Amino acid sequence: MLWFTGLSGSGKSTIANVVVKRLRKLGIDVEHLDGDTMRSIFPNTGFTREARQEHIKRVGFLAAMLEEHGVVVVATFVSPYRAGRALVRKLCRNFIEIYVSTPLEECERRDVKGLYRKARRKEIKNFTGISDPYEPPRKPELAIDTTGMTVGESVDLVMKHIVSVRP
Ligand code: ADX
Repeated sequence: MLWFTGLSGSGKSTIANVVVKRLRKLGIDVEHLDGDTMRSIFPNTGFTREARQEHIKRVGFLAAMLEEHGVVVVATFVSPYRAGRALVRKLCRNFIEIYVSTPLEECERRDVKGLYRKARRKEIKNFTGISDPYEPPRKPELAIDTTGMTVGESVDLVMKHIVSVRP
């Protein structure tokens, strides 16, 4: 289970997409669970602490079920609360927490989806990093600050880590 956590716009999905492709090329059975996709499947999911907890619990269970069947799961969720991530860690056999630690200033500068702008104008509530907290992992298996890094370099760090801890 490769669990990517970090602020919106930190680079989680971008890195994960390439990691998924590389793993598939190696013939590995991979499933990618992504925040935006899962939210389109469960459309009434909000952003309060409680709603996010439910959301992470739901996808965490799904992920653990897939992992149980030998699928490598790549999950990309902001998952800002330690409690939510701890729950999923407990459910999984081999939980690798990848903290994409790109600082808020850089995520906001990128503002890929224009959401930071909206959050600053108070058009969006409970926005992680602006009007909602992000609790950074204390002991992630891997941390990547993508500032000044290419996607390929970040992907290489993930692949290197996977190889180093291969059971
Ligand atoms: S999580 O906190 O519940 O894990 P998730 O990864 O599913 O979040 O969804 C986050 C995505 O929803 C972000 O990438 C962003 O595009 C969008 N989004 C919309 N509103 C918010 C918000 N208030 N806080 C964070 N992300 C938001």
